[in-house]
Amino acid sequence: MARLLLLVLATSLVALASCQRLPVLAPVTKDPATSLYTIPFHQGASLVLDIAGPLVWSTCQRGDLPTDIPCSSPTCLLANAYPAPGCPASSCGSDRHHKPCKAYPYNPVTGACAAGSLARTTLVASTTNGNYPVSEVNVRVLAACAPRKLLASLPRGSTGVAGLGGSGLALPAQVASTQKVDNKFLLCLPSGGPGVAIFGGGPLPWPQLTRSMPYTPLVTKGGSPAHYISVKAIQVEDTRVSVSERALVMLSTRLPYAMLRRDVYRPLVDAFTKALAAQPANGAPVARAVKPVAPFELCYDTKSLGNNPGGYWVPNVGLALDGGSDWWMTGKNFMVDVKPGTACVGFVEMKGVDAGAGRAPAVILGGAQLEELVLDFDMEKKRLGFLRLPHYMDCSRFNFTRSA
Ligand SMILES: *[C@@H]1O[C@H](CO)[C@@H](O)[C@H](O)[C@H]1NC(C)=O
Repeated sequence: MARLLLLVLATSLVALASCQRLPVLAPVTKDPATSLYTIPFHQGASLVLDIAGPLVWSTCQRGDLPTDIPCSSPTCLLANAYPAPGCPASSCGSDRHHKPCKAYPYNPVTGACAAGSLARTTLVASTTNGNYPVSEVNVRVLAACAPRKLLASLPRGSTGVAGLGGSGLALPAQVASTQKVDNKFLLCLPSGGPGVAIFGGGPLPWPQLTRSMPYTPLVTKGGSPAHYISVKAIQVEDTRVSVSERALVMLSTRLPYAMLRRDVYRPLVDAFTKALAAQPANGAPVARAVKPVAPFELCYDTKSLGNNPGGYWVPNVGLALDGGSDWWMTGKNFMVDVKPGTACVGFVEMKGVDAGAGRAPAVILGGAQLEELVLDFDMEKKRLGFLRLPHYMDCSRFNFTRSA
């Protein structure tokens, strides 16, 4: 009897293990014209990644199935949980039950939005064991349909946006529910290409490196689907620039560089110029400032900047994060080559926001700050892992060769 029970137990465990679905892998490409990142969608089209976006949207096609999701359904509420600034909030009106759901897809670059119905579509990707692709998978996705004009300013070949925000209809949550995987995603955004996105957790790639990945709490802010982390201080080499208590840092793939609120920006610029002026004492060349190129304020003659494995030889800038770890950035992560012979510090002052403006984060990190890092967004444990890949590695080292 006991033996039979054991056998039953063992077989059901095996069955459970085989039900355990694998996470979903997609290669990430950086579009050189727009500095935006895309993943393949289907039929040769791609979707733009918007790390702060609440929805998946596309210019729906014939193959996509329309839905009859009513306006009053929970799914429709999820689709409208985060109205974008300047877009109308959906309302059902009086005919609550029969009116079809309408969503408001939003273009993160132009800020435009449009009304659209919901359709069922498919993301063609691979499953992965964390090391390489395992098999092709068609992931069912609910997308808001948008008119073609909403694609303005997005990369050629893209037919929509995949929002990776913390909302119920963002891509990570949809993959989690249709594939029965965790609501997590990993990003390794490329500075060249291709990088990697993995939805659903599972073993982390490059285990020798990612095993010791530091984590910081992921913070949510009412009314925003974006991912935030909080900083206690900003450092320029060993000088601390104080920030207001628990200043929020928002992560963005829409901006190629970082934006800082004035109360953080001014002391950072002062500390940076001081530290740069002090560098020659350590053997660095004397940096020669040149006429700034908008929107940047600090620009230098590249011939007067030294080079090291971290890019131009400039002071390192670090974020002292909640949880005790430091996120260091070298020249590679914030110096912008604006034209031949001129490189600028890619930190820009946010205009028109005050320190007291509760809605404005103190810092918005853009694409250049997020590239060549392994970022592990764990919405279940509400934490973000981040690990800078060593100089001899980059995101394109992921093995995209499927096993035979
Ligand atoms: C990539 O993965 C495939 C499939 O397992 C394997 O055959 C191949 O050796 C791997 N390539 C590298 C460079 O590790």
